[in-house]
Amino acid sequence: MHYIFEGHDTVKLAEDFGTPLYVISEERIERAVKTVKDAFLSAGLDIAVYYAGKAFTNKAMCRIVESCGIGLDTVSGGELFTALSAGFPANRIVCHGSVKTSDEIDLAVKNGVHCIVINSPAEIPVIDSAAARLGTTANVALRVSPGVDPHTHEYITTGTLDTKFGLMPEELIPAAKAVHEAKHLNFTGLHCHIGSQIMDDEPFILALSIMLGHVKELNEQGIRVGELNMGGGFGIPYLPDEKEFDMYGYAARFRRTLDRLCVEYGIPIPKIAVEPGRYIIGPAGITIYKVCAVKDIPGIRRYISVDGGLNDNPRPALYQARYNAVIAGKYGDGLPESEARISGRSCETDTLIDSIMLPDAQIGDIMVFEDTGAYCYSMAGNYNRLGIPKIVLLHADKAHVIKREQTAEDIASFDEIPDWLEG
Ligand SMILES: Cc1ncc(COP(=O)(O)O)c(C=O)c1O
Repeated sequence: MHYIFEGHDTVKLAEDFGTPLYVISEERIERAVKTVKDAFLSAGLDIAVYYAGKAFTNKAMCRIVESCGIGLDTVSGGELFTALSAGFPANRIVCHGSVKTSDEIDLAVKNGVHCIVINSPAEIPVIDSAAARLGTTANVALRVSPGVDPHTHEYITTGTLDTKFGLMPEELIPAAKAVHEAKHLNFTGLHCHIGSQIMDDEPFILALSIMLGHVKELNEQGIRVGELNMGGGFGIPYLPDEKEFDMYGYAARFRRTLDRLCVEYGIPIPKIAVEPGRYIIGPAGITIYKVCAVKDIPGIRRYISVDGGLNDNPRPALYQARYNAVIAGKYGDGLPESEARISGRSCETDTLIDSIMLPDAQIGDIMVFEDTGAYCYSMAGNYNRLGIPKIVLLHADKAHVIKREQTAEDIASFDEIPDWLEG
């Protein structure tokens, strides 16, 4: 049998489009967005969802997000520019960044984004004067680090106090007053983000109670928090024995905590927003490789090397991220399996999967990595001058290239030779 992804034979996709290849399913994106919205609606909360573009973005993705009726979280001028050039409505865009250049601030202010999320007090006068210079008012939210450790990998933990992200709790009230008093700023609310790939709802609930405490403090100062954005971070199962994040259970618990604390603190219920990235795009993507080498080292292990690696998926090398893979042409046939290590082609150790049981792999076999939609393409690079693979979007029985692959010419075309090196 062949491995089928959303009705498409992955061996055929490899033949039609070549490898390595990113494949994204539009239906899977839509289903994940619907789960997030429906889970909160069934708990009686009509929340705002901003897809976190850092997980995967390009013009087609912006169009899909737009058609799902949700907003977009951008973290750089590049992401914002892509969204605007895809025609994404600026008033549904949240702009982040622990560093924001003046050009990025101008782009956000000029286009009237939903809000710019302030990461440090020093940004307040800068955004205020940009808005003054541009003859407008900028919507801003304040990001606070809630001091919650979600116990995932430390590289993807951002909500503890020892972090470059967000205001320290003691900076919040002076910052909110400064925003309130600034002539060209409009305060929209608070933001926090505690980390990524979180499977348990406890840290989110803890962050919610801390953030509602901040809403109360601001309320006491006469400053109303219109929107409380709880960031992203919902985890996904990467391995066959891992469980799904219980979105419905979380939404119900969230609602109960929200109601209880708003009554206890005497505050109006703020509009709730979330910014899922991985949850929406992770399971919507696969990467298709070709097996290019098989090396058996007696008594040690088997290495299977594929035609991609850390330049299309740096996550295993960066933080030991784990994936499941299958040999697409030998899927579900009950063939005998043996242990192998899967390596990428770059000139580094480039271990993609440390150990996995697979049927006997031959050179030329097609291998599929599951759940590679998030933080693979968006973190890809050109190490060894390898090009970033093309991306194909699946929509019902259609498959369409939404980003062509980078060629060696593309990569070399940015090079310049100074005149003293010209022959
Ligand atoms: C501010 C913010 N929002 C949302 C996200 C998306 O996180 P995830 O993809 O885990 O949902 C991130 C990721 O780092 C983030 O920094």
